[in-house]
Order: sequence, then C-alpha cells, then structure tokens
Amino acid sequence: MNFINRDPSGTMAAALAAQINANGYAVIDDYVDPDLLCAAQAFVADAITANNGEYIGFTGTEQLGGTFLASLPKDPNFVSLCRRIYESEVGKPAPESGFYQVLRCLSGRGVQKHSMRFHFDSYVLTALIPIAVPEHGNPGRLIIHPNTRGLRRTYLGNLLDKVLVDNRVSQALLNAAYRRGSRRMIRLSLKPGSLYFFWGYRSLHTNEPCDADAIRATALLHYADPHADSRVKRALRRH
Ligand SMILES: [Fe+2]
Repeated sequence: MNFINRDPSGTMAAALAAQINANGYAVIDDYVDPDLLCAAQAFVADAITANNGEYIGFTGTEQLGGTFLASLPKDPNFVSLCRRIYESEVGKPAPESGFYQVLRCLSGRGVQKHSMRFHFDSYVLTALIPIAVPEHGNPGRLIIHPNTRGLRRTYLGNLLDKVLVDNRVSQALLNAAYRRGSRRMIRLSLKPGSLYFFWGYRSLHTNEPCDADAIRATALLHYADPHADSRVKRALRRH
C-alpha cells in the first residue's frame, strides 16, 4: 500500500478525481497486500460463522481485530490520497475529519434485505475495498448511477433528496430501471483487494445480492460530510 508515496504532487489524486467524473468511479487495482487481504477474509468468514451464517456489519474500527482495516483510516498515505481527491474536486481545503467506516458482510437469508436499496451517502467521497466477492453464482456487483445530484447547499436540501429516494415508489422505479438495463447505471464487478472511489454523496448507488451460501464483504470508508456543521442536522440528530 505504499506506492501512493510516489504521488507527492497530488497528480495521481487529480487523475483519479477526473476519472470519477468521467466514468462514475475510479479504481486502483491490487491496492491491498495479498497477505493482509487473506487475513481480512478470514476475519469476515469467522464473523459470519459466529453470526449463524447471517449478515453482519461493523461500524468503526474497534471490532476489526488485527486486520488492515483497523489501521487504514489512520494510514497517512490513504488519508492523504482521499483528502487530495476531495480537494481537486471541491476546490476547498479538505476537512480535518476522520472517516465513517463500515465493513458490510453479506451472507445468508438476510442478503436480500441488504441489497438493491438505492441511496445517497452523507459523505462526499466513498472509498470501497472489496474483501470477499463470490466466485460462483451472483457476484453482487456494485451499481452506481453516477453523479445524480450536486452538493446541496443546505442540510435540509440534502435531506429532501434522501427522503425522495428512500421510499417504496422511488425504490421500485429505480429497481425497474435497473432491470430494464438502464445504461445510466454502472454495474461494476468488484475485485477483492482493489480500491474503488466514487462520489457517494452525489451518486445513487447500491449492491446486487449474492447467493445465500456465498459471502460478499466490502469495506467502505466515507469521507467529508458537507453538512457536518449544520445546526439543523444536530437538532435532528441524524447521522
Ligand atoms: Fe452507500
């Protein structure tokens, strides 16, 4: 994970931001060291087994044991890369905030419940590292409708977008567009250990289900909440 050091001038970050704008996402292949990836895969498999083969999610780093995911949000190269991607897009200094991190481990009967729910993230940049991807059956691709909206000026504007999407009618329409094969939706087959970026705040996105007997695990690191200082948000105590 050290080659990012070769980007002292931020050229790579600017290129990645341009790729996200042009293609809806950007990827750095084989970002994670294979040994570290293997250890994280074992962690995920154990966690699902301990949860009777069902979905389990981890928020933050405290329960991630000795996996690389526990230290990634403090990794100076990773942090610097995310900050620079943000800055080259937004044109403002990156906030001194950490990441909102989630490890999602899909398996078992609950797969459907955790799939095909289109949403906007609350954070500008989403970094995604697939940990485990099913080799047989449905691989659980990432679906991105890129850059659906701009950065909202106010938290309430953002909230309105979210409410308009998070209901049965909108979800049914989006799912119908997906099934029709809408060309505006990217269907991205994920490769374990690679690092993907997209504008999570601006892009409607979700994941396809995988088979119940398979494991699909993704680590998500969300960066920069544009409404972090909103008094309305604090009053509503929303994440
Ligand atoms: Fe998301």
